[in-house]
Amino acid sequence: MKILMLTGSPRKKGVTARLAAAFQKGAKEAGHEVKRYDTPWMKVSPCKACCHCRKNDEKCIYDDDMTPLIGKDGEILNADLILLVSPVYYWGLTAQLKTVVDRFYAVGRSMREKNQKIMLISSAGDSDPAVFNSIKAFYQSLRDWTHWQDAGTLLIPGCHEPEDLENTDFEEKAYEMGKNL
Ligand SMILES: Cc1cc2nc3c(=O)[nH]c(=O)nc-3n(C[C@H](O)[C@H](O)[C@H](O)COP(=O)(O)O)c2cc1C
Repeated sequence: MKILMLTGSPRKKGVTARLAAAFQKGAKEAGHEVKRYDTPWMKVSPCKACCHCRKNDEKCIYDDDMTPLIGKDGEILNADLILLVSPVYYWGLTAQLKTVVDRFYAVGRSMREKNQKIMLISSAGDSDPAVFNSIKAFYQSLRDWTHWQDAGTLLIPGCHEPEDLENTDFEEKAYEMGKNL
């Protein structure tokens, strides 16, 4: 299976980095191909709604770090599974990851016609699981619209720092999500 992993945290050694590495290890051991993009280090212009893509066969007007992901032969349409890994920032994805997701717009129509899967891994400082309500609603709406199949979610409350993962089984769960695909 071809997996496109998009991570959203600007912390190189944070919670997201550890969960992403655990998932990646499991998925690779299971023989899957994982292509990982850490969105905070990508140079990506926000979609400007020019709709150039609508008149030009899904080709975006920008040529930036999204170029390999979008377009007919891009990583998005070629992936069997798209995995989003993000901390909660003000009840949503980080701006860096959301900017990348907005740029899916160029291939939005084709995305709906492909039989793809999606997964979500997210962590938050708040220990109340309601902190994920907005992200869950976003995830469900994205799935409904794209017709992507839910391949699983891992939502981790009460985790401000990577050390908070210790004495929990969340990294093991992320590993198993990849391993059991
Ligand atoms: C700008 C910013 C906004 C945040 N917003 C929330 C929030 O709305 N709710 C919450 O529970 N935690 C919030 N947090 C905490 C992070 O979600 C939490 O520490 C996360 O697990 C960090 O993951 P990371 O180490 O991969 O960056 C926020 C952190 C930052 C820096």
